Amino acid sequence: MRKSDFDHVVEVIDHWWGGPGGTLAHPMFFYELGELATVAEEDGRIVGFLFGFISTTTGVDKTGYVHLVGIHPDFRRRAVGRLLYEQFLARCTEQGCRRLKAIATIGNDAAIRFHEGLGFVAHETEDYAGPSRKRIVFLKELTP
Ligand SMILES: CC(C)(COP(=O)(O)OP(=O)(O)OC[C@H]1O[C@@H](n2cnc3c(N)ncnc32)[C@H](O)[C@@H]1OP(=O)(O)O)[C@@H](O)C(=O)NCCC(=O)NCCS
Repeated sequence: MRKSDFDHVVEVIDHWWGGPGGTLAHPMFFYELGELATVAEEDGRIVGFLFGFISTTTGVDKTGYVHLVGIHPDFRRRAVGRLLYEQFLARCTEQGCRRLKAIATIGNDAAIRFHEGLGFVAHETEDYAGPSRKRIVFLKELTP
């Protein structure tokens, strides 16, 4: 992801998301944690993005964490999300990760079906994001 791509993502994210998503695309995910951030393009047009990085948490298997993925509404169900995840997975595997992790809010059915479709196991986790802030935690074990 180049800076011009990041700028574009920030401009379209609310529309792609169907609501305010701008704060989720915090610049830190580009400047500090952006080495594995990626966009998907078709004919030079950005149709999807992924912000992800390798977690530095100790005491668990080395983990590739997907913070945020978004696909242009006109390009959904065309395996763009799958492609972005496959590329992220490949780069995490190269760097020694043993699992992938992602989070979704309760009720984001597309995100749940998407992660399940890609072989993640979903765990509904009480208080994950603070008191009464339940989240769905997706985990996928990687084979080295
Ligand atoms: C969730 C999202 C990223 C999926 O991206 P996508 O490019 O449309 O997904 P893909 O085409 O790669 O789908 C891969 C598989 O996931 C599953 N899937 C994806 N979207 C689905 C949906 N809306 N309903 C049911 N299954 C779905 C299917 O199994 C699909 O395989 P198939 O099309 O061969 O049946 C996209 O809908 C999106 O950007 N949503 C808004 C933002 C969001 O919620 N992001 C996730 C939270 S971080």
